[in-house]
Amino acid sequence: MSEAPRVSRPTAIDVLAAAVARVTPRALHPRIDAVRLDLRQMVRSLTVEKTHPFSSSSEPLEVPPSLDEISVLDALLPKPLAERVDAVRRDVRAMTRPARNEQSPVVVPIRAQPAAVVPIVAPAAAAAPAVPLVEEASRAVHPRTVRVLEVRRETEDATTFVLEDPSGAALSFHPGQFVTVIVTVDGEAHRRAYSISSALGELPRFAITVKRVRGGVVSNHLNDRVREGETLEILGPSGSFCLGETSAERLYLFAGGSGITPVYAILRDVLANDDRARVTLVYANRSKDAVIFREAIDELVRDNPERLTLLSVLEQSDEYAQLTGRLDAENCAAVCEVLEVPTDARCFVCGPEPMMDAVRATLLARGVDRANIHEERFSSPQRRTHEAPASRGGHSLEIRYGKSSKKLTTRPDQSILEAGLEAGIDMPFSCTMGGCGACKLSLVSGTVDVVEPNCLLESEREAGAILACVGCTTSDAIVEIPE
Ligand code: FES
Repeated sequence: MSEAPRVSRPTAIDVLAAAVARVTPRALHPRIDAVRLDLRQMVRSLTVEKTHPFSSSSEPLEVPPSLDEISVLDALLPKPLAERVDAVRRDVRAMTRPARNEQSPVVVPIRAQPAAVVPIVAPAAAAAPAVPLVEEASRAVHPRTVRVLEVRRETEDATTFVLEDPSGAALSFHPGQFVTVIVTVDGEAHRRAYSISSALGELPRFAITVKRVRGGVVSNHLNDRVREGETLEILGPSGSFCLGETSAERLYLFAGGSGITPVYAILRDVLANDDRARVTLVYANRSKDAVIFREAIDELVRDNPERLTLLSVLEQSDEYAQLTGRLDAENCAAVCEVLEVPTDARCFVCGPEPMMDAVRATLLARGVDRANIHEERFSSPQRRTHEAPASRGGHSLEIRYGKSSKKLTTRPDQSILEAGLEAGIDMPFSCTMGGCGACKLSLVSGTVDVVEPNCLLESEREAGAILACVGCTTSDAIVEIPE
């Protein structure tokens, strides 16, 4: 069996391209990247053919690092010094976080509410802290085409798609993040967010796992029609449902059904990379046959008996279940009691809405710090069912970014994102459906209608955050793209 391709060390061309990218607008990055890859290919074809014309290539295939991954610092400084500088940079960033009004990574809940429009009024200037963008949002701006290398049936209604950028460039992501898949079905373009289910060690390949949703246009299209060799358009990665740099010593993962996908990526990452990790996975499903990644998770438990505990909850009675029933408030309380979940536990929760509500309430009741409960919720975008009021759009809008700003006029019912992009501003965005938070802006003055449901937290709304992709001006307004 051939070895998996590995990401090569950055060449001088890569470093030069990364340095140029640091000082140019994000909109130019795809062009810079394309030139970089072409130059690499040219240089490679010249040198490889001269020195190894008949190489049998027992070495694993190497692929170039993605532009985002290339550290100019690492390339220019001796390794110890580069690490030191990087550590100092991280420390300074962490120390100044409060001053920048940044909190723990943003969680992206979507509440099950009827579609509605909520007017948001800019709070008093002094009370409006900057709302941090979802980390890595800048990478989400431009769609990329990826090839489907493998289609793997996980369960009767869930399929894993192994993907790769045809250029060989590796996707730069954190375990727990998602990509937005863009597909055209019956002439209409649809976007849906799907968590990455593969581990970093598999790069440049990565995978998404898609479970059918009853009546779901995209999930059924992917499960039924997409085959190996085809291509998909994706945006991202996006999202902050990630472990970050803190230890996973007391890590509790709660997953329900297809909510396992981001949790599985996190689980594999910590077991592979953090020797101190002590992980408990509580995984709720309808039946044994519905358990996605069942064999792989069982294998992880066998390989890591001291570090990974699995508690399987099934609605149907089965020997695979430690607990029979739904993971509702009562069962969740019992589970947490048995597991003795400590107050300093770090918890990640992803699954159906009622399960997540039950887990959150139980953890809070046990005294777990709210900041240590990380949740990921996805919901299909709702069609706008409201009549767009005449007042939506048609206003003067000032968009501030960094030290610059631009004034424009929104058209009726035009989103702030559309207006900003049309004006040539490098607006951050990913899903364009209110589900990821990548397009979050601060409303400095004026009023904006935002379509519900969306991923804004109550505290973010109160602080004046809006989503550019589902927000329209209802008066003259000023908004700011957070640094
Ligand atoms: S782009 Fe995802 S919420 Fe706006």
